[in-house]
Amino acid sequence: DLHEEEVLTQECKSLISSLPKEKGWISYYQYKYEGFWYSPTRLQQVITLQKHFLARDSDIILVTYPKSGTIWLKAIMFTLVNRKKYVIKENHPLFSKNPHELIPCFEFDLYLHDQIPDPSSIPSPRIFATHLPYFSLPKSVHNSASKLVYLCRNPKDTFVSLWHFINKLRVEKMGSCSLDEAFDMFYKGVSPYGPFWDHILDYWNESKKISNRILFLTYENMKEESSVHIKRLAEFLGCPFSAEEEESGMVEDILKLCSFNNLSNLEIYKTGKLIYGQESKVYFRRGEIGDWKKFLSPEMVKKLDQITEHKLSGFGLKI
Ligand code: A3P
Repeated sequence: DLHEEEVLTQECKSLISSLPKEKGWISYYQYKYEGFWYSPTRLQQVITLQKHFLARDSDIILVTYPKSGTIWLKAIMFTLVNRKKYVIKENHPLFSKNPHELIPCFEFDLYLHDQIPDPSSIPSPRIFATHLPYFSLPKSVHNSASKLVYLCRNPKDTFVSLWHFINKLRVEKMGSCSLDEAFDMFYKGVSPYGPFWDHILDYWNESKKISNRILFLTYENMKEESSVHIKRLAEFLGCPFSAEEEESGMVEDILKLCSFNNLSNLEIYKTGKLIYGQESKVYFRRGEIGDWKKFLSPEMVKKLDQITEHKLSGFGLKI
């Protein structure tokens, strides 16, 4: 609500007063900072994070554009990296904890408001997540050898997923946001952490330059060729599958544990809540490729296809 802006620090208030402003998706307003859009609360978290986070070379950071399957990749990465410590059986942490609790997000779980957490007690390798655009990551991340795993999703499914999601989160007095209204904002690039295309493109281009530090994945690849890409991920993170592990069916076991059907049917996801009060089930909707066909008009499809082609194809990126 509007109260959201009153509680910001003086520094953030004065920053906001100099930034381009538009109507928000969940907050009343959103602001453009370093080329991307944020709600006031998010902006406060981002500037605190930028100032205080100290990266380690061993850090692993999952970066996604919102609604690209963050929760899924968190589950996979947690299971993969900790597979020696937590063997896949009934007492695996995923059965009692949400991936959002197992892998904290910088700006949602750690750098709350102007609080400065101390993540230095987390044992290495620390795994974090964020939605931040590449050039807004804390300087210490750029100056470290930390690894970034970037996950994106095709714009039509991302948009449809985002539209459903924000309507679940909006406070009652804002009413619901129509598909047309959301579409216009998304298309203009005025979406949370948007423009969508710029977010993806920066990571794509950087992943070509520093391929040892950034692994670029798509939701569609992860769905369609899961085992190929989970093996790439394991190699990139320095924990490749051994021949014995592959023979024992470890790849399939991890994918099965983290699958939409498995996770979304667990009691903790059906009824659980996250620390900030969010119901866990809002992160599971359909989990499919092409669900946009049920929602988007031919005109919307044409516009999204054209802008995606225009913005990305020159860089050799097809999503
Ligand atoms: P849909 O709304 O299209 O179903 P995020 O975690 O980044 O917020 O992304 C949420 C999207 O990922 C939702 O997409 C959600 O249903 C889907 N999702 C959640 N868990 C998944 C899983 N295990 N496998 C595939 N997709 C999943």
